[in-house]
Amino acid sequence: MRYLVTGGLGFIGSAFIRLLVAERPKVEIVNLDAMTYAANPANLASIAENPRYRFIKGDITDPAAVAAAIGEGVDAIVNFAAETHVDRSILDPEAFLRTDILGTHTLLEALRERRIPRYLQVSTDEVYGDVESGESIESSPLRPRSPYSASKAGGDLQVLAYRATYNLPILVTRGSNTYGPYQYPEKLIPLFVTNLIDDASVPLYGDGQQVRDWLHVEDHARGILTVLERGEPGEIYNIGGGNPRTNLEITRRLLAGCGRSFESHVRHVADREGHDRRYAISSSKAHALGWRPTVEFERGLEATIAWYRENESWWRPLKSGEFLAYYQRQYAHR
Ligand code: TYD
Repeated sequence: MRYLVTGGLGFIGSAFIRLLVAERPKVEIVNLDAMTYAANPANLASIAENPRYRFIKGDITDPAAVAAAIGEGVDAIVNFAAETHVDRSILDPEAFLRTDILGTHTLLEALRERRIPRYLQVSTDEVYGDVESGESIESSPLRPRSPYSASKAGGDLQVLAYRATYNLPILVTRGSNTYGPYQYPEKLIPLFVTNLIDDASVPLYGDGQQVRDWLHVEDHARGILTVLERGEPGEIYNIGGGNPRTNLEITRRLLAGCGRSFESHVRHVADREGHDRRYAISSSKAHALGWRPTVEFERGLEATIAWYRENESWWRPLKSGEFLAYYQRQYAHR
């Protein structure tokens, strides 16, 4: 078996590739990654020399790069390649439309032409938009409210349209907020942990009462693999951690884990524009395939803090250059 994984140098894609290498000895992996700011070869340093793994630098919006990565053929494409950060999408939406919609389109065209037997689109619970109460199920309406989530919803809709029109063997997963090792330090948890390690303040948006459902990256990777192997073609599967927490609760835990106080280290800043208050999904369809998250949240969070403490050499180089320019632009005026 040969799988084409796109965006495999990113946070969730690299966890998925590490899982495949460890647990699927018959699978060869081609990783097509454009190496944008959030990609990092260090995420796969442990398997880079494995004979079952091959890396190709290229963009999913480029049909020639996609064709080269497919080569003689693959048994599945798993698309992790995406622009993913809501705040960046508010500052600069265009790259999101390009990668998350047009990139998906390029892959779907390859799927159609090459008759690849399976395609999995890695999506997000953010496509359902703000969920005031209850839980989104896979057939709930899509009400994305940020340029990021609108782009991801656009990708999902292309995938579903290709199913309806060309009867292609597609699957969609919609994961909840993911945390764990190797996450680029712009997202809530790694940003706050690395700031706190450095004795810097953390910028909490608005009242901090927004709710996210936290999922450990290894559980997320395993959920995607379960859907790839056992999912019903044409179906969508929510993959939620089952750990709803307010940002305030997360912040308090991170402060405690890093030995810092709320008064001295939390900077209350202006809320994100169009900030979704709450995400909540039901994962019973994925549960019916036999998947369950296994990492207990408080232990997973402690282990994540410990990982960032022990791996400064991984994240410290990232918090310079381009990141500082972004940080300034995003937070200086708030
Ligand atoms: P984030 O990690 O950006 O994920 P998403 O927006 O995709 O859910 O943010 C998680 C939550 O944390 C979200 O409600 C916004 C909030 N947040 C802050 O309060 N301050 C920050 O600096 C960041 C990055 C996020």
